[in-house]
Amino acid sequence: MKPSILVIGSSNTDMVVKTAHLPAPGETILGGEFLMTPGGKGANQAVAASRLGGAVTFICKTGTDIFGNQSIDLFNKEGIDTTCIFKDSDQPSGVALINVDDNGENCIAVASGANAHLTVEDLVLAAPCLEKANIILMQLEIPIETVAYVTSVAASLGKKVILNPAPVCALSDDLLQSVSIITPNETEASMLTGIKVTDEVTATDAAIYLHEKGIATVIITLGARGALVFHENIFSLVRVPEVKAVDTTAAGDVFNGALAVALSENKIMIEAVEFACRAASVSVTRMGAQASAPYKRELND
Ligand code: RIB
Repeated sequence: MKPSILVIGSSNTDMVVKTAHLPAPGETILGGEFLMTPGGKGANQAVAASRLGGAVTFICKTGTDIFGNQSIDLFNKEGIDTTCIFKDSDQPSGVALINVDDNGENCIAVASGANAHLTVEDLVLAAPCLEKANIILMQLEIPIETVAYVTSVAASLGKKVILNPAPVCALSDDLLQSVSIITPNETEASMLTGIKVTDEVTATDAAIYLHEKGIATVIITLGARGALVFHENIFSLVRVPEVKAVDTTAAGDVFNGALAVALSENKIMIEAVEFACRAASVSVTRMGAQASAPYKRELND
């Protein structure tokens, strides 16, 4: 049996408008192309991991509206175990408004809806899913108390927890200590450490800071420059293939989903990060979040 990956996080429907540049405050830009497409950092990571060959269970909370129901149908079609997904009839499903410019850069505003109501009580009910998981992957689009609960239970059960701290917020030392692998981007690493991460040197300092908080492995993603990895006291810079970016939305999600799969296949850390970089580099060449996640066969792996 394949080791099982449990992704716990958000599910959104993304409303994407493509414009030449990102609008400034008060500015209206005409002429954009519109796309309504499945998203949410948790769901994106679950879909990416499943497409890359992982045995994935996803826990999220949706509303009982059409957006939530469509998302769950899609997860089922992707081969994801959806038996632990919660529904809240009092809340709308999550929605994200996304702008993507000609360079593939984006800005995102999320109406969390039901995602903000995935509670500790829900996760207590989902205990069997937690117990059977080998790797647990989380982000920060659900309540922080829920993330903290899962990390502490997972640590007590000896499970590997990957935390993608996005969107970033302050994290307690207790929570950080229960995480096995953390994967911030430059902005998130800067916010978590107080060290402005702009290059390999500052990323190294930030990685040391996070490692000293008790996290065994720190991976700081550096966009087109790759990822800085601190693992077993060794620093490595993993390069990312050069591509023309069309839409960087969910590149980090694809990276994290791919990383979880590679680790579940017992790849060594550097090979796992190389695999994750390759998967992310394919995703930026396509529009959309889940829509951009590559399949295993596309990575020649
Ligand atoms: O990481 C990209 C995702 O962030 C989008 O799919 C959007 O839904 C937001 O959650």
